[in-house]
Amino acid sequence: MYGRVIGITIVGVRGHPVAVEAHIGRGLPSLTLTGLPGAPVQDARDRIRPAVESSGLEWPLRRIVVNLSPGNLRKEGPGLDLPIAMGVLAASAQVPGDRLARFSFFGELSLKGGLVATPGVLSVAIAAARAGLDGVVVPAPNAGEAALVDGVRVVGAPGLAEVAGFLRGTWDPPTPRASGAAEAPKHGVDFAEVRGQAQARRALEVAAAGGHNVLLVGSPGAGKTMLARRLATILPGLSRGEALEVTQLHSVAGMLDAGGLVGSRPFRSPHHSISLSALLGGGTGFVRPGEVSLAHHGVLFLDELTEFRRDAVEALRQPLEDGRVVVTRVAGSVEFPAGFTLIAATNPCPCGYEGDPKRQCRCPPHRVELYRQKLSGPLLDRIDIRLVVPRLSKRELLGETAGEASTPIRARVEEARARQRHRYSALGFPCNAQLPGPVARRLARMSSGGHDVLAGAVDALGLTGRGFDRAIKVARTVADLAGAEEIAAGHMAEALTYRMNLSEGSLARAG
Ligand SMILES: Nc1ncnc2c1ncn2[C@@H]1O[C@H](COP(=O)(O)OP(=O)(O)OP(=O)(O)O)[C@@H](O)[C@H]1O
Ligand SMILES: [Mg+2]
Ligand SMILES: [Zn+2]
Repeated sequence: MYGRVIGITIVGVRGHPVAVEAHIGRGLPSLTLTGLPGAPVQDARDRIRPAVESSGLEWPLRRIVVNLSPGNLRKEGPGLDLPIAMGVLAASAQVPGDRLARFSFFGELSLKGGLVATPGVLSVAIAAARAGLDGVVVPAPNAGEAALVDGVRVVGAPGLAEVAGFLRGTWDPPTPRASGAAEAPKHGVDFAEVRGQAQARRALEVAAAGGHNVLLVGSPGAGKTMLARRLATILPGLSRGEALEVTQLHSVAGMLDAGGLVGSRPFRSPHHSISLSALLGGGTGFVRPGEVSLAHHGVLFLDELTEFRRDAVEALRQPLEDGRVVVTRVAGSVEFPAGFTLIAATNPCPCGYEGDPKRQCRCPPHRVELYRQKLSGPLLDRIDIRLVVPRLSKRELLGETAGEASTPIRARVEEARARQRHRYSALGFPCNAQLPGPVARRLARMSSGGHDVLAGAVDALGLTGRGFDRAIKVARTVADLAGAEEIAAGHMAEALTYRMNLSEGSLARAG
C-alpha cells in the first residue's frame, strides 16, 4: 500500500517542495522516516500517530516507511507533520487521491490533531505557486498570510480531520482573506521632542533619504540614543515587493503574530550582549534569521557600539557589503537577505568626555587609542555619515523651541527617494547609498562649483578614494533633498561635514 503527497520544507527563507512517499507493509507496527529528516522532523513520528487517532482516523498497525525526497536536502522544522500524516492516510486509502496530488501540505500538528500556527507559511505559499500546484493546505491561523500570494488556492484548516474532510469533499474551507498591511506603526516618539541639534537632525534626514549608514559620537546624555530612535519615524515607506520580502523573513522567524503584511521598514535595536547566532542567524536544526535579516529593508541600530563583541561587529562586514548573510553550519550553509541601513552610537572614549567642552576626559591616551581601534577599520569604512553630537547647553534644553515634527521630514525623505528610484530604475538600485563607487562617480552630475569643493577637499582633508566616493554619494542625496539635478557647491560642502575621522585620534572633523 502506497501513497504520495507534496510537502514543503523551508531552507533559509525559501520553501522547497518535498515529495513524501509512504509505504505500508508487513511487520511489527512502526514508523520509519528516511531521506535526511532533521532531528525535529524525527520528532514528528511521535506526534503524528496520536494526532491521527484523535481525529477520528485510523493509524495502520503495520510497518510504515515514509521517505522524503530529494534525499540530499535536509528537512527541518515542524511543517512536514501534516504531509507525513497525509502520506500515511493516502497509503491506507483513507483519503481519495485526486485533490491530494494537486495540493501541497504544510503545518505542525498537535497531539489532538489540531494544526497550530507554523513559521514560514508565506514562503510555503510562494513555493507552491512557483511549483505550479493548484493550492496549499496550511494551518487556519496562517491562512491570511498565505493568501498574500496570488495564483494559488489557500485552504486554512483548523485540524487534520478537516483536511481529510476537504479531500473527501465533506468539508468546505472558508475563503481566506489576505491579511492587509499592518497599521502604521506607533513609534511613540517624534522628532518634535528633540530640541536643538540642528546638524544631527539634518544628518538623519539625509541618512533616511539616501539609505546611508550613520555613526553618532558624543558624551553621555548628549542625545545619541534619543536621536537614533527617531530615525524610525522618518523612514520612507516600503514597496509591495519589499514588504513581501520583509514579511517572509519575519514569518520564517516566527514573529508574525498579527499575520498581515509588514507595513513599514523594520527598526531593530539588539542589545550589545546579543549572541552571534541571534545577530546573524542560526539555531540547532531549523535555521532562523538573525537581527541583520529582521532589519532587511530597514534599520539596524547598534547603541553603545563599542560594547558589542568584536567578532559580532566584524561579522557585519559581509551583510553591509553584500546585503545578505551566509550562516554556515555542519549540515550546510543557509543564506538570508540582510540589506539594512546601520545606525550606531558610541561615546568618544571610555569615560565618555573626550572632546567635551565642559568636562575633562580622564582617560590615559593609550586607552582612548585602544577604544578608537575598536571602531576603526572596515566597519567605519562602510559608514557614510559620521558626526559628533554635542551636548546641549542648559539654556537650550530648557528653552521653548520644539523641533520640527517627523511627518514633514518624512515627506521630504519620500520625495528624495522617489527621485533616486526614478534615476536608477534601469540599474535596480533603490537609493544613493547602494551605488557602487564607480557608478556613483559616473552618474554624479556636478556643477563646476561642486567639483571645486570636492577637489579642494582632496588636498585640504586628505580625502582617500573611498572617502571621495562617499562624499559624492552623500552629496547626491543632499542634492536630491533639494530637488536639484546637479550637485552644487553647497551640497558638496554639506556632505563633507559628515566625515569626522575617529581613527586620527581627535574628535575634530577630519582635517
Ligand atoms: N536634544 C535634546 N532634546 C531634548 N531632550 C534631550 C536632548 N538631548 C538629550 N535629551 C534628554 O537627555 C536624555 C538622555 O539622552 P540620550 O539617552 O539620548 O543620551 P545618549 O547620548 O544616548 O547618552 P549615553 O552616552 O549615556 O547613552 C534623553 O532621554 C532626553 O530626555
Ligand atoms: Mg545612549
Ligand atoms: Zn575619556
